[in-house]
Amino acid sequence: MRRRWLLLCVALLGWTLVLGQRGAEPERRDAEVQEEPDGEVSTGSGSKPEGACPEQCSCAADGVVDCAGVDLTEFPQDLPESTRQLSLQNNQITEVTVEDLSGLLQLETLNLQNNRLTTQLEDEGFEVLEQLGYLYLANNKLTAAPKHLPPALVSADFAANQLTKIFPYTFGQKPALSVYLHNNKLTDAGLPEGMFNGSDNLEVLIMSSNFLRLVPRGLPSALYRLHMKNNKLEKIPAGAFENLSQLRELYLQNNFLSSDGMDNTTFHLTSLEYLDLSNNNLTDVPSGLPRSLVILHLEKNSINRIPADALTPIRNLQYLLLHNNRLRARTIDRDAFRGLKRLHTLHMYNNLLERVPRGLPRRAKTLMILHNMISEISRDDLINLHTLTELNLSYNRLTSAKLHREAFRKLRLLETMDLSGNKLQALPMGLPKSLQVLKVKDNQIEAVPEGALAGMAKLREFYLSNNQLKINSFYQGAWQELSSLTTLDLSSNLLSHVPADLPESLEFIHLQHNRISSIPPTAFLTTPNIKGIFLR
Ligand SMILES: *[C@@H]1O[C@H](CO)[C@@H](O)[C@H](O)[C@H]1NC(C)=O
Ligand SMILES: *[C@@H]1O[C@H](CO)[C@@H](O)[C@H](O)[C@H]1NC(C)=O
Ligand SMILES: *[C@@H]1O[C@H](CO)[C@@H](O)[C@H](O)[C@H]1NC(C)=O
Ligand SMILES: *[C@@H]1O[C@H](CO)[C@@H](O)[C@H](O)[C@H]1NC(C)=O
Ligand SMILES: *[C@@H]1O[C@H](CO)[C@@H](O)[C@H](O)[C@H]1NC(C)=O
Repeated sequence: MRRRWLLLCVALLGWTLVLGQRGAEPERRDAEVQEEPDGEVSTGSGSKPEGACPEQCSCAADGVVDCAGVDLTEFPQDLPESTRQLSLQNNQITEVTVEDLSGLLQLETLNLQNNRLTTQLEDEGFEVLEQLGYLYLANNKLTAAPKHLPPALVSADFAANQLTKIFPYTFGQKPALSVYLHNNKLTDAGLPEGMFNGSDNLEVLIMSSNFLRLVPRGLPSALYRLHMKNNKLEKIPAGAFENLSQLRELYLQNNFLSSDGMDNTTFHLTSLEYLDLSNNNLTDVPSGLPRSLVILHLEKNSINRIPADALTPIRNLQYLLLHNNRLRARTIDRDAFRGLKRLHTLHMYNNLLERVPRGLPRRAKTLMILHNMISEISRDDLINLHTLTELNLSYNRLTSAKLHREAFRKLRLLETMDLSGNKLQALPMGLPKSLQVLKVKDNQIEAVPEGALAGMAKLREFYLSNNQLKINSFYQGAWQELSSLTTLDLSSNLLSHVPADLPESLEFIHLQHNRISSIPPTAFLTTPNIKGIFLR
């Protein structure tokens, strides 16, 4: 994705430069009479001068030839034989022939990205380039890959073409290759048997955004990173990943994988650290996930339960993303997270949680359980979360009556809490004194009971917008407790005056959409640091 954007930007930049040049020097056009070799270039030698540099290009002594973004429609002729790096990206070249390449025996890097290559590249053309290490052909309109690429190849980029076919020696027999094939039209039938035969050191393979239903067989055991997102994978055949003991990153999101399409041996990948299975058709957490995993994406599936033993073997897990599934608290086993001592970030928003699940990971720092159906938090629901720093409970169904006043007592490190979008009638009691950011907007809060803000000297940002607050909703001296407060949002309430005794630290106050009709000159006397007052 980022790569494509970059390409687009480069393309646009190239285009602007061309336009710019034309605009600034319209007379240059006259000098650009092509076709006939003109006197200036051929001074000295014959019709095909040694070491000449094509007019639109710049050629450096070390074999670097730059013809990028100069509006070429044909592969340039008369390139120096010493050319090692040839930049032809961002032109409109439609064809590369054997003759074009035959004189470039020193070529190490060929960049033809973002041109208009359509036909299949002629096979022998690349074969003669024995030094070729880097071949960039992304963003063209190629429908088939070259049949032979030279064995020295280190990186082959064919992204964003229309490839339907790969041949055995396109990527086979290349001892040190990485391959980029994303955004093409590859199907299983277009891949040869033994596609990477003899390319045993292939470390990076990017095949995202194609039409593959199967994981290719015979992937080299050196593979470190495999991208297959946005394909049509429905299942992972037994043993498909069996030799990939070096694989660290596996991207399988946006496919049609179901839980039936894998078994407890599928992910026996002893080095795997990053696995993305999001946006598939899973109903269960896959079993047999490796202990080495650090980040596990399971969001946007239909997972409806977590049994006791599904996650617990993943001892290194740090990030677990389970949002947008169909989890209920009662279908999450109370031992589901047992022993996951490194798990610090857990996302379970947009599920069907009717309460806070039991047995949450004891070392969690970030817990995102917003957009569920949680209507109650009892005294001990959060009792084990001693290390939690961020708790997002927004857009649930909490009422003040069902939120136990001691529920937060163990959250001594909590810095950020979001209770917005619930049905609270009063600001909860017993909020952690460690809080720095507190959001309770979009509730029905009418009262801030005596002592509710006591000791909250670390609170910097306090959002109370869209509630039912009046001037007398706050207890006497409430604001003076908040000696670090810099931002206070009281917009969309029922206030008739600017609150008195605001803390001295205050910098921004939002009071728009209230019932304030006048502001006495003394209103902001206690807040010398005020930078913004929003009153509309
Ligand atoms: C793989 O390469 C070996 C030689 O290195 C050859 O014998 C074998 O037939 C090849 N297999 C495929 C499927 O191409
Ligand atoms: C894994 O390696 C073994 C031994 O080299 C081989 O027989 C098997 O076909 C390989 N599996 C896959 C899926 O490539
Ligand atoms: C994997 O599943 C099979 C049954 O499908 C079972 O017999 C086997 O014990 C399981 N292996 C592990 C390691 O859980
Ligand atoms: C996803 O799974 C459901 C059943 O769990 C099935 O009805 C549906 O067809 C599957 N969708 C795809 C795209 O495989
Ligand atoms: C809670 O999550 C929502 C949705 O991601 C986000 O907009 C909000 O800022 C979060 N709350 C806090 C306090 O970070």
